[in-house]
Amino acid sequence: MMRESIPLSIPHISGNEWKYVKECLDTGWVSSVGSYVDQFEQRISEYVGVEFGIATVNGTAALHLSLLACGVQPGDEVIAPSFTFIAPINAIRYCGASPVFIGSDPETLGLDVNKVNDFLAHECVLRNGELYNKQSGRRIIAILPVHIFGHPVDMSPLNEVAGQYELPVIEDASESLGSEYYERKTGSLSTVGCFSFNGNKIITCGGGGMVTTNDKSLANRIRHLSTQANKKPFEYEHDEVGYNYRLTNMQAALGVAQLEQLDSFVEIKRKNAAHYREILANIPNVDLAWEASWAKSNYWLCTLIVTPADRIPLMEYLLTQNIQVRPAWKLIHTLSMYQDCQVYKMEETVAEFEKCISIPSSVQLTADDIRYVVDRIKVYFDQK
Ligand SMILES: Cc1ncc(COP(=O)(O)O)c(C=O)c1O
Repeated sequence: MMRESIPLSIPHISGNEWKYVKECLDTGWVSSVGSYVDQFEQRISEYVGVEFGIATVNGTAALHLSLLACGVQPGDEVIAPSFTFIAPINAIRYCGASPVFIGSDPETLGLDVNKVNDFLAHECVLRNGELYNKQSGRRIIAILPVHIFGHPVDMSPLNEVAGQYELPVIEDASESLGSEYYERKTGSLSTVGCFSFNGNKIITCGGGGMVTTNDKSLANRIRHLSTQANKKPFEYEHDEVGYNYRLTNMQAALGVAQLEQLDSFVEIKRKNAAHYREILANIPNVDLAWEASWAKSNYWLCTLIVTPADRIPLMEYLLTQNIQVRPAWKLIHTLSMYQDCQVYKMEETVAEFEKCISIPSSVQLTADDIRYVVDRIKVYFDQK
């Protein structure tokens, strides 16, 4: 008999979610002001280990505001990976700027600091204290690493390179809440961090986001921009074009309840990844994506590394077995609207992308589910 479908990554609602959301409904505090918004901001910033948290309507809005607050202007360029979900790259475009796509590290799958260093050192030039891309003539204004699948980018050397050119670093930690880099939480490792609480993330608000930072003036500016740039709310005095990007109290209530369970979610996901790794070790040609010695990944999405020839047929087979799997995101530099952007040292990244399959990773995954998934992978290879 066919098993019920095993989902890729679904929310786990098992704490105070109903209670806190009901309180919003009962009191009428449902919109973008309320005690849960304040609590959520405070608790996320405490958890991540920074001074300020600014809640936003989603992770994409958090990225957009962070880029604006870091000074990204139309015509500028931002260093970014191609191997990522599209949201951070779209956020660069919302500012009227362009990404320069730099290849990823084949081990962590995140932005490769050596390639970034080479690009800045050899392809750019400093003029009047600002960095310009020799090829495009445009100003390089920021670096945007993404901790994909939950695994941190190697941030210390990246921050060092950024520091040499005085470039702010905007950490896209949307997928990595709870992950650590040398025992420090992602989202606290650079100028600003951005999170997503979309339904498929480790904790969810339904939809939601957060900016985290230790920089008070950046925090104030991001908060200002997120509330229609309303300088004197009573008098409706708006001093620039702002955005309606605030999170609602109901979504924040959900977020607070989810955050109460985050530590156990991280523990479960790490245990599940270890279980996958242990039993996958018996199948040649299949590995679980690597974890660096300096990293503690939240294993948001467990990702298989297979040979490129097996990637599509194995996914097709697993889908017929009611196991939800998916490929990595199509590399962004290959998409029509970003094909005109500069690409640097992308060969290894193309090769890595062709090996990745994300497999069921929800918190509620059981040991039995994991055995079933690995068993089906084994059947695929046995039948080849
Ligand atoms: C790496 C990354 N950045 C940004 C986002 C955007 O977040 P949201 O969907 O909340 O706008 C997501 C996920 O959706 C993501 O995976």
